[in-house]
Amino acid sequence: MSSVPSSTSNKPYSGPPDEELEAVLAKAVSTRRNFAIISHPDAGKTTLTEKLLLYGGAIQQAGAVKARGEQRKVTSDWMELEKQRGISITSTVLQFDYLDNTINLLDTPGHQDFSEDTYRTLAAADNAVMLEDAAKGLEPQTRKLFEVCRMRKIPIFTFINKMDRSGQEPLALLDQLEAELGLLTWAVNWPIGSGELFRGVIERRTKKVIIFSRAERGRQSIERTLDIDDPELEKLVEKELLDKTLEELELLDAAGSELDPDLVHSGELTPVFFGSAMTNFGVRPFLDTFLEMAQGPVARLSNTGPIDPLTPTFSGFVFKLQANMDPRHRDRVAFVRVCSGRFEKDMTVRHARTGKNIRLSRPQKIFGKDRAVVDDAYPGDVIGLNNPGMFAIGDTLYTGKHVEYEGIPCFSPEIFSWLRNPNPSAFKNFRKGVNELREEGAVQILYDIDQSKRDPILAAVGQLQLEVVQHRLENEYGVITRLEPMGYQVARWVNGGWSSLEDLGRVFNCKTVQDAWNRPVLLFKNDWNLNQLKEEHPDLDLSAVAPVVSGVDPISL
Ligand code: G4P
Repeated sequence: MSSVPSSTSNKPYSGPPDEELEAVLAKAVSTRRNFAIISHPDAGKTTLTEKLLLYGGAIQQAGAVKARGEQRKVTSDWMELEKQRGISITSTVLQFDYLDNTINLLDTPGHQDFSEDTYRTLAAADNAVMLEDAAKGLEPQTRKLFEVCRMRKIPIFTFINKMDRSGQEPLALLDQLEAELGLLTWAVNWPIGSGELFRGVIERRTKKVIIFSRAERGRQSIERTLDIDDPELEKLVEKELLDKTLEELELLDAAGSELDPDLVHSGELTPVFFGSAMTNFGVRPFLDTFLEMAQGPVARLSNTGPIDPLTPTFSGFVFKLQANMDPRHRDRVAFVRVCSGRFEKDMTVRHARTGKNIRLSRPQKIFGKDRAVVDDAYPGDVIGLNNPGMFAIGDTLYTGKHVEYEGIPCFSPEIFSWLRNPNPSAFKNFRKGVNELREEGAVQILYDIDQSKRDPILAAVGQLQLEVVQHRLENEYGVITRLEPMGYQVARWVNGGWSSLEDLGRVFNCKTVQDAWNRPVLLFKNDWNLNQLKEEHPDLDLSAVAPVVSGVDPISL
């Protein structure tokens, strides 16, 4: 991983910053870049990931990420259900070095039913790559994930993929981004045709033309770079097509927007790239420009204000928990995003929620199925910690002065179902499984306010999420359960708490439940019922995203 030297200590950091550490940290932070890819299934995320990893030398051959013939098989696919269904559910981190940079690609699940996991992963990302299929333009899942990026104001780099297939007009694709997402766009390159007529791209800043031609069996392209005034160009690109492209470029230039790095970093302007991941066309220029423009590890908000990554004391937060990654060991891993200072193996850190000191003796770097012990890690990196049940999503770990990072919000679930345990003798395992899966964030758990109906309510974004919970309860905890759908589709947290609900008196066409932090949540059958309530009680403050809780233990089953 990193080449910077490490040292070990088993006491919370207390001394003044030393110069060696300052220099090492400054170098590590300046060369770290991290991002997550947001896309709709099938846009080409797996394919693009694979090509990026090839550049970083992290994998040796194409097809290592997605074995041909085995659809949706990704390096990070390891769970039994994933294998059966051929989908990617969990997300891990893929770290690779490219040129002088260390890049952390936070892999997100491909299936939309697992977007909760993606939301949380985005909380650990400093940049996002938004991948679109040129023929389809913006798709529902991308819009949803984009909203999360917007909430966090993270820079978004748009890669418009599959240019080797006929796609929508490039100007229309940019218009869509501007009109529907309210993003300013700046095309870094501009395509010459698409599909059978795809001839390459013009780099707008250098005015170089990168010519695309198909190699053997059409799965690999050959790139050739020419100056825009090279007479050779006329032989390679039809005159009419070239004229059209140049006219479009003039239009873009006349529009006058600039590639302003500040606007990119505030998430207001997205640099747009056209290419084809499958044929590996435009991927390297994309990676190079991304590294030039992406923001490095940013200061993160905490209870004591923003924490600069160059702060010499270590701090980080848990953004994801995963149990039983390796069924032979029945282990649990907490993924921690390093936010400041240097993390070192064997370090003793403080767990902010409980105030306990913990020695982290086997921190891991996780790459799909494989793990290696890490000696050190820096802001922007992600480490995996064996989790003996101590960590919860949003927990802060630190050395030095007490700090607690802003928690990670829960997003509004859309499917609700009672989870029944028909076998009372299995209750102990049922309870353990439900509590652990909730802690892990595999699903949100709600409870009826009527204490006599204490079966948990599973609240999920997608049906598959519920099936995974059932499957894991059976395989990992030995409990066969039954789901009983509830027929609600919308959840809203009541920001004013229980007292504001009491003031309201009786409310109709919704069900009141409590979440694991004893906060009131209203469930509605549809948006119409929600809007009706809002009209009747305009002062009621409802939220689709649960306010963040930190420092409080949740209610267990
Ligand atoms: P995902 O992870 O976003 O779900 O998408 P994935 O990479 O699996 O790609 C979905 C399909 O789109 C795959 O085809 C893939 O080969 C294809 N694809 C990705 N990038 C491009 C591109 O630039 N051009 C073209 N023409 N196709 C692209 P598949 O038929 O599902 O699988 P395969 O048999 O091709 O591997």
